[in-house]
Amino acid sequence: MGWFSGRCYSDAKLNGKTIIVTGCNTGIGKVTVEDFYKRGAKVIMACRDIKKAEEAKIDIKETCKNSPNKGKLIVEECNLSSFKSIRKFCQKILSTKTKINVLVNNAGVMMAPRGETEDGFETHFGTNHLGHFLLTMLLLPRIIDNTPARIVTVSSKAHSCAKVIMACRNINKAEEAKEDIVKTCKDLPDKGDIVIEKCDLSSLKSVREFSKKILESEPQINILVNNAGVMMCPKELTEDGFELQFGTNHLAHFLLTMLLLPKIKESAPARIINVSSRAHTRFNMNLDDINFEKRPYSSFEAYAQSKLANVLFARELANRLKDHNIQGVNTYSLHPGVIKTELGRHLDKILFRGARRLIGILTYPFMKSPELGAQTTIYCAVDEKCANETGLYYSDCVAVNPDPKALNDETAKKLWEKSVELVGLDFDPFTVNTDSVKINI
Ligand SMILES: NC(=O)c1ccc[n+]([C@@H]2O[C@H](COP(=O)([O-])OP(=O)(O)OC[C@H]3O[C@@H](n4cnc5c(N)ncnc54)[C@H](OP(=O)(O)O)[C@@H]3O)[C@@H](O)[C@H]2O)c1
Repeated sequence: MGWFSGRCYSDAKLNGKTIIVTGCNTGIGKVTVEDFYKRGAKVIMACRDIKKAEEAKIDIKETCKNSPNKGKLIVEECNLSSFKSIRKFCQKILSTKTKINVLVNNAGVMMAPRGETEDGFETHFGTNHLGHFLLTMLLLPRIIDNTPARIVTVSSKAHSCAKVIMACRNINKAEEAKEDIVKTCKDLPDKGDIVIEKCDLSSLKSVREFSKKILESEPQINILVNNAGVMMCPKELTEDGFELQFGTNHLAHFLLTMLLLPKIKESAPARIINVSSRAHTRFNMNLDDINFEKRPYSSFEAYAQSKLANVLFARELANRLKDHNIQGVNTYSLHPGVIKTELGRHLDKILFRGARRLIGILTYPFMKSPELGAQTTIYCAVDEKCANETGLYYSDCVAVNPDPKALNDETAKKLWEKSVELVGLDFDPFTVNTDSVKINI
C-alpha cells in the first residue's frame, strides 16, 4: 500500500515559523508535528488531553534527538468540543506576540456514540467543524498579520461516506454485485468506495491472506460484518478438515475477527456484527464431535450449531473486551428473518428434488426481500440507538432474548477455547497492537 501512497518530498525549512496543530497527541497529527519540528518550526500542540500531549512531545523529542535542525514544541490545552476552551486557548495565544504562520485544523472525532459538545451541538459537527471554525476565526487577524500564511483543514474521504470492502470468494460474482450497486446508487450524492478482496471462508489460509492484506493496507476498520454463510449442505469438509458449516460460518469468522481485532480496537468506536439465525435455537453445541464422526451427519444440526456459535461468539467477545477494559468496540448478533436469497441452494440435494421450490412456496407469506432482510444488520452496524449496547442478539431491529443455550457462559468459554485451538491462534488479539501482529500464511 505504501508504494501507492503520495509523499511530500519538499526539503523546505521552517525556521522562524510558528505552526499550530490541533489534536496532535497521536495519529497523523503527531507525525505532522514531528515533521514540522524537524524542519525547525516552533509548533504549538493544541490538545485536549495535556498528559497525552506531553507524552507525545517527549516521544517526538526522543525520535528527533539526532536531527540537526530542530525547532521548539509547546503544549497548550484546547478542547475543540468546548467553545470556552477554544476561546481560552486563543486568548492565551493572542495575548502574546506569537506569530501564526500555519494553522493545521487536524483534530477530529469519528463515529462517536450519539452525544453533544459542551455547547449542545452534535459531537462530530460541533467538534470537527464548529470548533475549528471558531478557532480559525479567532486566530485569523493574527494569521493575516503574518502573511504569507496557510490554513490547512484535514478532511476525510468519509465526507463522501464509507469505504466498503467486499470480502468474497467468487471475484466474478462480487464484480457483478459491485456493478449492480454502483448502478443503483449512481445518482446518490454522498457515495463511498467499494473495494473487492478475495476471501474464501472455507479456507483459513485465505482468511489469513485477506486479513494480512487488510491490516497492511487499511488505516482503520470501523465495522466488520460476519455475514457469509452456507446452509444445509451435503457433508463436506473445509480445506482445513472441519465440517463445512461450522468451519465456514463460525471458525473462519472467528479467525477473521481475531486477526482484525487489533486494528478494530485502534479504530474505536467500532462494531462487529455476526449474522446468525433463529435456527440457533434448535440444537445444543456438540464440541466433542464437530465433524459428525461419532454420530450420523445432519445438515440442519450442523447449520444450527454454526449459527448458535455465531451468537455465543458475539457474547463472549463482548465479555472479553470488557474484561480487557477495551472500550468502544461493540458486538452484535442477529436473526435477519426468512429471506428470499440463494441460501437454500443445497436443499434439493439434501432433501429431495423440488424441495427448495416447495419450501419457497410454503414460506412465501413470511419471506422478506433481501432489502428488508438486511435491515437488522444495518441497524446493528450504524444505528445510534444501539451504539452503547454490546453482546446482545437482535431480530427486526430490536434486541431480543436468544435461546437459553446461547446464554450459557460455560459453553461460550468452551467454544472460545476450542476455536482458538482449531484455528491455531498464536497471539493475544486483546493486548497486541496492529504493528506487532505477524500473520504466517
Ligand atoms: N436467507 C435467510 O432466510 C436467512 C435466515 C437466517 C439467517 N441467514 C444468514 O444470513 C447470512 C447471509 O445469507 P443469505 O441469505 O444472504 O444467503 P446467500 O444468498 O446464499 O449468501 C451467502 C453469502 O455467503 C457467501 N459465502 C458462502 N460460503 C463462503 C465462503 N466459503 N467464503 C466466502 N463467502 C462465502 C456466498 O458467496 P458465494 O455466492 O460465493 O457462495 C454469499 O455471498 C448467512 O449467514 C445466513 O446463515 C439467512
